[in-house]
Amino acid sequence: MKFFIDTANLDQIKEAHDMGILDGVTTNPSLMAKEGIKGEEAIMAHYKAICEIVDGPVSAEVISTDFDGIIAEGQILAKIHENIVVKVPMIKEGIKAIKWFTDNGIRTNCTLVFSAGQAILAAKAGATFVSPFIGRIDDSSWDGVDLIEQIVDIYNAQGFMTEVLAASIRNPLHIVRCAEAGADVCTCPLSSILGLLNHPLTDIGLAKFLEDAKSLK
Ligand code: E4P
Repeated sequence: MKFFIDTANLDQIKEAHDMGILDGVTTNPSLMAKEGIKGEEAIMAHYKAICEIVDGPVSAEVISTDFDGIIAEGQILAKIHENIVVKVPMIKEGIKAIKWFTDNGIRTNCTLVFSAGQAILAAKAGATFVSPFIGRIDDSSWDGVDLIEQIVDIYNAQGFMTEVLAASIRNPLHIVRCAEAGADVCTCPLSSILGLLNHPLTDIGLAKFLEDAKSLK
């Protein structure tokens, strides 16, 4: 399973990249707004800065909702850097645009996916990635990882090439369960990635080894 980081924060992206486990980045308008980035020029420069840190797919989301607007925006985003993947919402115009981008060699990430039916449409249109939002599903008292399992099964049965990108990750257990369910990619906040490191027996064991090592000097 590939690890993407779900943030537009350059320090966090660098920190995950420095661990040597980072395969890509996802952003969305809310994450960009959180970093205080304003205006087209600043947005473009920020995506470029992210692409210069991480040698892997970097999802940049369109904010248009009509076909022509999505295509125009996506073409501009795709020109920023070869790592850019155009993130398109799961709406009728979005599906039409994903098909157009696919036919024109531009990679896409179909976002805001909450059902297997939506995931089938995204794959039919040729999306490079499909992003089911598992944390937001959990927030509505359904099990988000069940949806990952269902989409993985469908894609395997049908031979769809679209990669299942588990999004809206809230904790390290989500990452573990997505790996178990066969997700191709998990996009996570840095806190969830770092949470994978934690085990009290590791801390106790390391303290003991370091204490005993003093007698070796
Ligand atoms: C990433 O592609 C999604 O936009 C993101 O994971 C959504 O996460 P959230 O539900 O925590 O906002």
